[in-house]
Amino acid sequence: MEKTTAIVLAAGQGTRMKSALPKVMHPVCGLPIVHFGIQAALDAGCGEVVVVVGHGRASVEAYVARAFAGGRVHTAVQERQAGTGDAARAGLAHIGAQTERVLIMNGDVPLVRGADLLAVVRPLDEASPRPAFSLATCLVGDATGYGRVLRAGGEVVEIREHRDLRSDDERAVREINAGFYAADVALMREALATLAPDNAQGELYLTDVVTFASRAGKGIAAVTLGADVLAGVNDREQLAQVERTMHERIVRAWRLAGVTVRDGARVDAAVVLEPDATVESGVVLRGVTRVGKGATVDVGCVLANVTVGEGALVKPYSVATDSSIGARAQVGPFAHLRPGSELGDESHVGNFVETKATKMGRGAKANHLAYLGNGDIGEGANIGAGTIFCNYDGFQKHTTTVGPGAFIGSDSQIVAPVTIGANSYVATGTTVTMDVPADALAISRVKQDNKLGYASKLRARLRASKAQKSK
Ligand code: UD1
Ligand code: CA
Repeated sequence: MEKTTAIVLAAGQGTRMKSALPKVMHPVCGLPIVHFGIQAALDAGCGEVVVVVGHGRASVEAYVARAFAGGRVHTAVQERQAGTGDAARAGLAHIGAQTERVLIMNGDVPLVRGADLLAVVRPLDEASPRPAFSLATCLVGDATGYGRVLRAGGEVVEIREHRDLRSDDERAVREINAGFYAADVALMREALATLAPDNAQGELYLTDVVTFASRAGKGIAAVTLGADVLAGVNDREQLAQVERTMHERIVRAWRLAGVTVRDGARVDAAVVLEPDATVESGVVLRGVTRVGKGATVDVGCVLANVTVGEGALVKPYSVATDSSIGARAQVGPFAHLRPGSELGDESHVGNFVETKATKMGRGAKANHLAYLGNGDIGEGANIGAGTIFCNYDGFQKHTTTVGPGAFIGSDSQIVAPVTIGANSYVATGTTVTMDVPADALAISRVKQDNKLGYASKLRARLRASKAQKSK
């Protein structure tokens, strides 16, 4: 497959999506549609992948460059979206000199896998008599909108687009063209050169290469694959169906690998789950999230690009983004870890605690109601309820450093930048505005004064005042 180049057609607008986003950039389980076709081509072993871009090209190019860096995948531009045949020509103009064979594929078929692509190419090397052209077909219940595979004497002779069908017999054909074609470069180049826009849409149809191959007496192999593999995405209902199938695949694979994933959890394609992890219902795991061995992500959590360490427990309804949670740490319920939160092993972050760009050392605790922004908290430090790291002066963010073993009493405000020394003690209700040396006690609150017997006097005065007002 090293000398096979895949050409992924991804330049179309996708009118039926009714979207400002190019169709192939719509996510399926967290990754754009176009990602899956490219990945399948790489998995199949194609030496090179050319992605034909056009509509919304900047976003597709940027994604391809970011997600498939490394030189095997590049893009070609189709200037005007004049049909799939024109797109294939644009792709073919960009293939490397080492290419002997091309596999042209629709970019809007995310369920296709490497093995399916190999099945399309294989007859060119293995079938006898040896065909010169191979395409994927599919038997569907409702063929509306698809190109029909027309056969004569059992042999494929033509693909006719839905809008160009000429009879009820043709409309009744249930074998459809899936949009995957393989042939040697020379034949494909020759076939593409013959295309003309003589059809209902006035476009260059890639499918007409089949007619060319048939008329030229080339053998055509039709490889029939399942409808669950070859479903294309043209509108958002198909997007939802494809995503359902994709998600079932993802979850099934993790379950078989030893992970408990409850029904009703949503696990994106790039997520990694280690054995004996548990993902409860209502959990959404997005982006590059990783859940370690034996860790539990409990009901209703939403994690995006988060690493959860071994044996950690993320309690219900916690939300975390671009953060890491150490081994055996405990988070939540109702915790909010904003980007750049790094919780050490065995640390605890409890309910209604918000962290942002904050590191917590091993075993550090902030169990209730706190805002910890731009903090660097040492091992075993304890942050009391109601503590606020005042990190923002309206212009800049400032850092609060808390040494190992320090104790911050409840309802303290820590006005950054400030450093609180190791094993120091900040008394409850203190407003810390200057550094606290190691082992010191910082206290800044008004001294308490008890006025004996004053409560009843106060009540009498307030009662009289109220009676006066209601007269
Ligand atoms: C195409 C096939 C049809 C097949 C169906 C399978 C043609 C003429 N028809 O129809 O036989 O049953 O796929 O799903 O090929 N694209 C470009 N440039 C363009 C037009 C399209 O790059 O100018 C890309 C699109 O981004 C898309 C792919 O080609 O990824 C297919 O285009 P689409 O318009 O969806 O073709 P279908 O109507 O689905
Ligand atoms: Ca399509």
